[in-house]
Amino acid sequence: MIHFQPLGRKVEARKETPLLDLAREAGVQIESICGYAGKCGKCKVVITSGALNLSKATESERDLIPEKDRRAGMRLACQTYIKSFGKIVVEVPEGSRRGHHRLLAAGVEPKVKLSPALKKVVLRLPPATLKDLRADDDRLLEVLFKKAHLKSSISPGVHGRIPEALRKQDWVTTVTLYRNWEVIQVEPGDTSRNLFGVAVDIGTTKVVAYLIDLFTGDIAATESMPNPQIPYGEDLMSRISYTIKERDGAGRLQYAIVDGINTLVTRLCTAKGISRDDVLEMMVVGNTAMHHLFFGIPAQHVAAAPYAPAVRTSITVSPSHIGLNIYPFGKVSSLPNVAGFVGADAVADLISSGLYNDNKIGMMIDIGTNTEIIAGSKRKLLSCSCASGPAFEGAHIKYGMRASTGAIERVWIDPSTLDVNLRTVDDAPARGICGSGIVDAVSELFKAGVLEPSGKMMASENNRIRRGKEGTAEFVLATGSDTATGEDITITQHDIQEIQLAKAAIFTGVSILMKRLRIKPSELTRVYAAGAFGTYVDASSAIHIGMYPEVPVDRISFIGNAAGSGARMCLRSVEKRELADELSRKVEYVELAAEKEFQKEFAQAMFLPHRDLSRFPNHKKRTSKYHWS
Ligand code: FES
Repeated sequence: MIHFQPLGRKVEARKETPLLDLAREAGVQIESICGYAGKCGKCKVVITSGALNLSKATESERDLIPEKDRRAGMRLACQTYIKSFGKIVVEVPEGSRRGHHRLLAAGVEPKVKLSPALKKVVLRLPPATLKDLRADDDRLLEVLFKKAHLKSSISPGVHGRIPEALRKQDWVTTVTLYRNWEVIQVEPGDTSRNLFGVAVDIGTTKVVAYLIDLFTGDIAATESMPNPQIPYGEDLMSRISYTIKERDGAGRLQYAIVDGINTLVTRLCTAKGISRDDVLEMMVVGNTAMHHLFFGIPAQHVAAAPYAPAVRTSITVSPSHIGLNIYPFGKVSSLPNVAGFVGADAVADLISSGLYNDNKIGMMIDIGTNTEIIAGSKRKLLSCSCASGPAFEGAHIKYGMRASTGAIERVWIDPSTLDVNLRTVDDAPARGICGSGIVDAVSELFKAGVLEPSGKMMASENNRIRRGKEGTAEFVLATGSDTATGEDITITQHDIQEIQLAKAAIFTGVSILMKRLRIKPSELTRVYAAGAFGTYVDASSAIHIGMYPEVPVDRISFIGNAAGSGARMCLRSVEKRELADELSRKVEYVELAAEKEFQKEFAQAMFLPHRDLSRFPNHKKRTSKYHWS
């Protein structure tokens, strides 16, 4: 038996199962940004009894836990497996407990006319008699043609279900058609109101699934989880290299994501009280690598020059082809990709933002581990992708965490006293800092003159600035007496560098696309900030550190989980799918690594806000009263 303290939860031990899983089963939520990869160090627990029943410390644990703490029993819950039975007592420190995770499921979603690819038709058939000896399939198709004027064929595999479906409810039956020509389901009676599909946004870090009632068009339920491929690599490149280096690596990655989505589908169906067989179609979006790995398409060519994807066009396969547990004769479709690093998710962003239809020039920025940017207007659209990494998700940041209870999400610093004002998610005592808080903190520290434009933290008499255990400078955001963990929460010199790298990657993309379009930031009439991070980050802080282009903040629109919105719109409407196909051909892809100016742009963008201040002409105005003006 395993006891989780101080929460008093218990669970039966299972051999070869990580403590992280057993904690979840016991209802104890432990933070896990990297999803079992042993990289984030957020899932620390302390074994107070029964350590001999557990696996030995791994290399990751030796790297991430100081020896003194290891000797005191500290382990990473994702790396610690049950080896033998016996009483095990696990202390879960406050800092490792996950609060309510703020999930951004919503997105700005223009209304679409409901015209899904699936259609249900209720038929009343003449019963078979000695005078009417037609076979069931002929009878069905003939009545369908008479009633709906649709010339259709029956999907292989469905034939076996027809005899019972026709006779069970006295020859009243409901036929489900895919795109008006393929009969994919025949059910007894009138089930016309029971029509469901699932839209899935596969992010590199997070997967969100939406159950859509295709009879009403409403969202019936939403579920999400960290991308289960994270243990194989935090970013796209490391996952693709796993598929190249490991035998059946691609198979393992595909299994991980399909298995994860199956779990989400089960949760969605339980929430709505329907069966998985009621889900007839799935619409999937994701960046190109996620798309390829999900469908079992080789992704290695995406990772090497000239970065050509294997598949650009939208595809549709049967669920059994990839092991998805929905209605077996249903459909799994994807939107088209644009290029190796601009995928179906960017096409979905484009559709939900409406940028493709704007007369004036705008820009859409979807920030994630891999940031996709599209700029232009109705006439011309350019896209690029930036390797911004997982820092905004809280990874590689000393006190980084996701935006869940107790995460510092807003920071204000008095430039004269360096006193700090914080806002945390759910107004709970601080446990760490999430992406929007980190951007605010860097912006405020820069405004207050604590950071040089190079990002270097200045020495100061003020006791908020000190040398951390690692010997480098750090700024105390919250002291132990005010935090949930009793530990000071700091932002370190290393954290600042991580944010500089991430924001420089994004601004390099922004800058190169603007140059290609021959426009200045002031000519951008709208900037659409997509994704959870884009929605919660303070726009003026993002401009101040040089991540967003310098535009008046009222031109920045927060469109939420736009990829999820676009996927839902396309699940509901075949016209939107056709639009997606058209846009994927129209959007031009700019490969940043092939741009002559890439290195120079990136090096300049590492500065706060930028080495070339002519790109941020109002910077001086914003900071004139501060140290670095
Ligand atoms: S989840 Fe254990 S180290 Fe990241």
